[in-house]
Amino acid sequence: MTLIDAGRTEQAEAVPAASARTDLTFTRAAHGDGTERVLLRRDGRTVFSCLATRRHDSTWFVTECLPRRRDAKSAALLLAVCDHLAADSGSTDVVTISPEFWGPQLAASGARPLQRIIPMRLPLDEDLLLLHGRALPGPGRLVPLDMSDGALARLAQLSADDQREGDLIVWQETLDGVYGPVIAEASLQVGPGAELTAAIAITEYRGKPLIAHLVTAAAERGGGLGKALLVESLRRLSCSGYVECHLNVVADNWIARRLYRSIGFIQAGPELLASWVSRGKVSGDEPR
Ligand SMILES: CC(C)(COP(=O)(O)OP(=O)(O)OC[C@H]1O[C@@H](n2cnc3c(N)ncnc32)[C@H](O)[C@@H]1OP(=O)(O)O)[C@@H](O)C(=O)NCCC(=O)NCCS
Repeated sequence: MTLIDAGRTEQAEAVPAASARTDLTFTRAAHGDGTERVLLRRDGRTVFSCLATRRHDSTWFVTECLPRRRDAKSAALLLAVCDHLAADSGSTDVVTISPEFWGPQLAASGARPLQRIIPMRLPLDEDLLLLHGRALPGPGRLVPLDMSDGALARLAQLSADDQREGDLIVWQETLDGVYGPVIAEASLQVGPGAELTAAIAITEYRGKPLIAHLVTAAAERGGGLGKALLVESLRRLSCSGYVECHLNVVADNWIARRLYRSIGFIQAGPELLASWVSRGKVSGDEPR
């Protein structure tokens, strides 16, 4: 499946160069956790807001774009933010996570689509979770997620060869707190040490539980481990007082989507698109 179908891309309106937008003013407020809330105002009225984070490789990461309106003007405002961040910091690379329906406008301005993402949420209902609960298949036992330095390489070993490098980064970022603090009560693994066969990390991202990662060892998939681990983790999350859980899943990941849907997760908000937006001089290195 292609990320954006070519027909729609061709019909996209080119948005005005954001550098020409002198009617907009930018306000940036640091959140203290490495992110900034960026507000765009016109005539004193806020017309757009988003969160911007500068990553270690100096790429900007822009998320939580509001309003999520299906119109070219909103996409143009996002591009204005990208231009502002690039001009202000000297970094030309920006990765945006925005509604998928802005994709054609972003593409018309030279952005490259990376991945379609489905945001999902589940209200935590203990009765329903008990209904979906099942015993762990096999001899493995549940233990708290190992968050020591040495655990990272073991967690990455769960992934298939072609996913390992990317998953190592996700685990690293998760344990480093990039997605908020890890909720220890609900973050679990099956099997201690070298016997590790599956793991889940749930973090508190901006006050809401987020499944930061869930992986079953490639050789064990399809045997019921992932679902048993996920449901038990959600049950413990509920017992810890949380009332809902969120996640973002790559649209093409049908197996994970089926798993989440099977226990009641539903789509939360419009489908999202990760895009690589290069403003001004291209550095040559595209971010992951
Ligand atoms: C997603 C993942 C964790 C599922 O783990 P698993 O141990 O294989 O899952 P289970 O065996 O418990 O299956 C759970 C559900 O997934 C779906 N599923 C699992 N394997 C499937 C397959 N081969 N085809 C279609 N659906 C499948 C089914 O809905 C299944 O429920 P059911 O058994 O009631 O029909 C695993 O495939 C994995 O590690 N994938 C790579 C990492 C990843 O994508 N993580 C999700 C990040 S958001």
